[in-house]
Amino acid sequence: MIQSKNLIVRHTHAEDIPKLIKLQKRVYPEIPPWTRAKLANQLDVFPAGQLTAECDGEVVGCASSLVVLWDDWADAHSWKEITAAGTFDNHDPEGRTLYGAEVFVAPEMRGSGLGHLLYEGRRTLCREMNLKRIIACGRLPGYHRYADEMDGEMYAKRVLWGDFHDPVLSFQLREGFRYCGVVEDYIPEDTESHGYASIIVWLNPDYKPRKPTQLEQEEVL
Ligand SMILES: CC(C)(COP(=O)(O)OP(=O)(O)OC[C@H]1O[C@@H](n2cnc3c(N)ncnc32)[C@H](O)[C@@H]1OP(=O)(O)O)[C@@H](O)C(=O)NCCC(=O)NCCS
Repeated sequence: MIQSKNLIVRHTHAEDIPKLIKLQKRVYPEIPPWTRAKLANQLDVFPAGQLTAECDGEVVGCASSLVVLWDDWADAHSWKEITAAGTFDNHDPEGRTLYGAEVFVAPEMRGSGLGHLLYEGRRTLCREMNLKRIIACGRLPGYHRYADEMDGEMYAKRVLWGDFHDPVLSFQLREGFRYCGVVEDYIPEDTESHGYASIIVWLNPDYKPRKPTQLEQEEVL
């Protein structure tokens, strides 16, 4: 559990599901939210990977992950494909990559370090499980402002060069993630990003390649 002032990041519980759906509707008014069944499935498939942020007992954010064999997905994928349409049925205990499927913070709570705490929760999970890295495809919600002038790749480069601030990519770079290029049609309904997303990676400095991951150990027991 990670705690800072009155903010807590902890594992998601079944009772959080209706609150997370309500919050997700506020965060993405134009993207259909998860269903209760999908969130329940995520918890069944990989409970350790589902984190919820709480402030004074209110649910104010979440970070959801699954484990994948990255080689299966590295060429190209959409959010729907890699998350098995949000069920996380693609979670693979033999994988060594923690895949960040979703992270969001209540709009009124942004800019106060909650996203950082959720990312810290993910890094802790990655270290504790002896996973090699975290990979995610991040939305580029600031892109729509420049879509008439350049493609998504040039926009992302200009964020890297410090010309533009993107609410998601700038945050992820500051969190120590490296930019690996863009994918198209990642979430086609994401009009702000015009479907673009940037692939980002964080390498676990404590990773021990010769040791099994926690999930592999659990499979043997
Ligand atoms: C991306 C997201 C999760 C970040 O959450 P957040 O709680 O705002 O994150 P933080 O507060 O840790 O950091 C955000 C910024 O505030 C700054 N910040 C954090 N604490 C601060 C403080 N006490 N004082 C001043 N600035 C602060 C950070 O440095 C960061 O700045 P940067 O964007 O220039 O790097 C949030 O914007 C979000 O929910 N977006 C919508 C959903 C979404 O698109 N998710 C991404 C899916 S790929």
